[in-house]
Amino acid sequence: MVNVQFIANRLRMPDSLPVHRFDVPAIVLTGGGSRHQVGKVAQEMGAKRVLLITDPGVREMGIADGIKTNLTEAGCDVRIFDDVQPDPTDRNVSAGESALKEHAADLVVAVGGGSPIDTAKVVAVRPANPSPLKDYIGLHKIKNPGIPLVAIPTTAGTGSEATKVAVITDTSREIKMMMLSAPLLPRVAIVDFELSVSMPKGLTAAVGVDTLTHGMEAYVSKKRNLMTDPLALSCVRLVGNHLKRAWTNGDDRYAREGMMIAACHGGMAFSNSSVCLVHGMSRPIGAVFHLPHGLSNALLLPTVTEYSWQSAPDRYAEIARALGCADADTKEADACGALVEYLEELNRYLELPRLSQWRGVSKGLFDRQVEKMAADAIASGSPDNNPRIPSQEEIVELYRKAW
Ligand SMILES: [Fe+2]
Repeated sequence: MVNVQFIANRLRMPDSLPVHRFDVPAIVLTGGGSRHQVGKVAQEMGAKRVLLITDPGVREMGIADGIKTNLTEAGCDVRIFDDVQPDPTDRNVSAGESALKEHAADLVVAVGGGSPIDTAKVVAVRPANPSPLKDYIGLHKIKNPGIPLVAIPTTAGTGSEATKVAVITDTSREIKMMMLSAPLLPRVAIVDFELSVSMPKGLTAAVGVDTLTHGMEAYVSKKRNLMTDPLALSCVRLVGNHLKRAWTNGDDRYAREGMMIAACHGGMAFSNSSVCLVHGMSRPIGAVFHLPHGLSNALLLPTVTEYSWQSAPDRYAEIARALGCADADTKEADACGALVEYLEELNRYLELPRLSQWRGVSKGLFDRQVEKMAADAIASGSPDNNPRIPSQEEIVELYRKAW
């Protein structure tokens, strides 16, 4: 006779099994030319008044005007807001809030790299979450849903179109405010690789290694889970297949599409499993030296990987295999060693400078700031997700090693 209670006990999840939350955009459009669907999407969402958030560079290229035309033809009244700088600031957000209010927008469309998209995320939630921005730093502090957001990335990329994360610089304290909350997630992501074809080599390299860092950190994070693992490894594999090709020949549409999807997968993965030590240490470098985000990740990635892999050799070995720098039967330690070498070689191939080679970065300023940078890195919380958690002194050492 079947013991019903026995079966019920076997099927019941243990109380200690963790619950993981997985947030992604409700709609993701991919493929060359998918940006031309933005008006149709806005119509489906019932939008009438659109604030289109971009930056001056994207606007100059005519991309924002193309999106505006498409939205206008769909019956929307569109206002463009382009007062967004690289590493967007609290001032950019305030100006965007005013534009949103003046235009009485019922939809926000963001087009550009991570900076306009991050700005748009925060602007869209401000009417329903009006406390000072610093109150929203950290995890799940933004409670109320904002105005719906459609994100159209032009770089591959930050993956911002698929994440519930925004990073805004606090200009008074010179720190980057990292906010992770479900209301920041775009409702729709339109991932059109054609927009990334004109990216210059330096940008292709920096955002490409940022993408790789997202995939790697999502895969080794202490908050990884069975929903994020496949996306994280897919991101890493796509970068291994496509980044050098996209950098070498910007017109390689196949490689550009591969990198655009890599960025989207990486964004979905890290948004739901968190980034780790590289991003934790990277943000303070960006805040102090005003390096592009992808570049500050790239210059840390080999050093931090070398420091971290011994606490999760199986995970890092899997990353090495996904990148093609180790075989299925390569011993874990050898695969991890090959991974560190691969990352160093990748930076050289992509002509990414070390921190000491970046214009305007002096050794004196570095020495004066390194302790504060290490303290800010720890305060961000990201290092706690790392397989190996460093002390403040160890972070200082890692900064010096990456110098
Ligand atoms: Fe990043």
